[in-house]
Amino acid sequence: MSASRRRIVYPGSFDPITYGHVDVVARALQLFDEVVLAIAVDSTKKPLFTIEERQAFAEKALATHGAKVRIVVFHGLLVEFVQEQNARAILRGLRAVSDFEFEFQMALMNRKLADSIETLFLMPRGAYTYLSSTIIKEIGRLGGDVSAFVPPVVQEAMRQKFHGVKP
Ligand code: PNS
Repeated sequence: MSASRRRIVYPGSFDPITYGHVDVVARALQLFDEVVLAIAVDSTKKPLFTIEERQAFAEKALATHGAKVRIVVFHGLLVEFVQEQNARAILRGLRAVSDFEFEFQMALMNRKLADSIETLFLMPRGAYTYLSSTIIKEIGRLGGDVSAFVPPVVQEAMRQKFHGVKP
């Protein structure tokens, strides 16, 4: 069976999912029938939230898209996961020039590993170009207001994680 041209895999740590990620998914759905949001277990980063928490946040944040978005946890190499999903495209959000070097390296390495898989980049809405999960976690840890950047479920979870406040 040939790989689907209508499905794209959006990999990342999503620790936690932000409105920037949500915006990129919405844009991708204008071009593809299905987005597989793939949360990597094998990432070099030490996450704040467990894989189950990140999955639950993404499911809630993207519920409005119904079956057009699937949230999946994956182990091992991304290109192998993309092939298992019968897809041939990887989606990444590109915010600023500073993202480019890492993204370029990753895209070309993935191409080297699997030549038939392409990486596509979409830019989030201007208002989200300065967002990153790392910065949001720092603001949350220091008690700042993150309501403009992350869905309510993440906001509550951060409040609880950093300040022990139950929702
Ligand atoms: O959101 P992130 O942390 O920038 O995403 C990085 C991610 C998860 C896409 C990358 O670490 C990844 O693809 N990990 C899976 C293992 C893999 O295939 N590594 C080689 C990538 S060239």
